[in-house]
Amino acid sequence: MTFPDTNLDVTPGEIAAFRENGWLRLENIAPLAEVELLREIFDRLFARRAGWKEGKAFDLAGRDEPGEEPVLPQILNPVEFAPELKHTQFRANALAIAKSLLGADAEPWFEHAICKPARIGVATPWHQDEAHRYDPGVDYEQISIWMPLQPATVENGCMRYISGTHRGPVLDHRPLDGDARKSALECVGVFNPEAAVICPLPAGGAAIHHCRTLHSASPNVTAVPRRAYVLGFRGAPRPAPHRPIFPWISGRRTPAAERAEAWENRGGPVGRASRKLGRKVGNFAHRVKRRLLGN
Ligand code: NI
Repeated sequence: MTFPDTNLDVTPGEIAAFRENGWLRLENIAPLAEVELLREIFDRLFARRAGWKEGKAFDLAGRDEPGEEPVLPQILNPVEFAPELKHTQFRANALAIAKSLLGADAEPWFEHAICKPARIGVATPWHQDEAHRYDPGVDYEQISIWMPLQPATVENGCMRYISGTHRGPVLDHRPLDGDARKSALECVGVFNPEAAVICPLPAGGAAIHHCRTLHSASPNVTAVPRRAYVLGFRGAPRPAPHRPIFPWISGRRTPAAERAEAWENRGGPVGRASRKLGRKVGNFAHRVKRRLLGN
């Protein structure tokens, strides 16, 4: 399936609303045929736990203990495990929108796939995305473009925002439930969750938010998993030598970080290729030996 470069942009009114509120809702960002295809790809990736051993797949709200059913599984950089994600209308449209909101220098910065499982999917805690940032010495604006692959409702975990919080500071955070083994952060600063605006969306719609906008998502109490694809972009970086390193980030060691480290110590992708080659050479030698021995 091929899609044109881009067929969408935000209007001046939408740009102004984003600047004012710190988030923006779009009725549609990608064609439904593509969203259906993405849903199949996501279900395949989550079923085989793509990225687990690399530390790129983890339970955002759990502890990744063996035998524990994940309550908020997530895959970082899913395009590494499904290259067909490279060429989507969603990606082209999202980049065009990011340039309108962040400036012509805006560049793709990260992406992730989130699945909020049917019935057991928990709430995503209130947080600001910037609270996760560890990038000493530089500063930049960052946005996330969140697209649900089925309708997103209050019942299955749509986004909710506290408007205007992007104009304030990064508030205090801590690991979810104060448990350092959990990857998710929760805001423990002062804010009013009563002021939240919910953002239900059709499949293929988009919720766009600034990295300082406080947001969360409700649990999934329906019988269907709620999948969402997030593309992150950043504006031009500028030097910021005095930018603080957040205390809730420094020295953190999540189970996913441990798996990523173990994976790198085994040689990462190069190690994987050489182990595969080693197995092939070993099998070949075994076959030659059997032939020579006549059995
Ligand atoms: Ni977030």
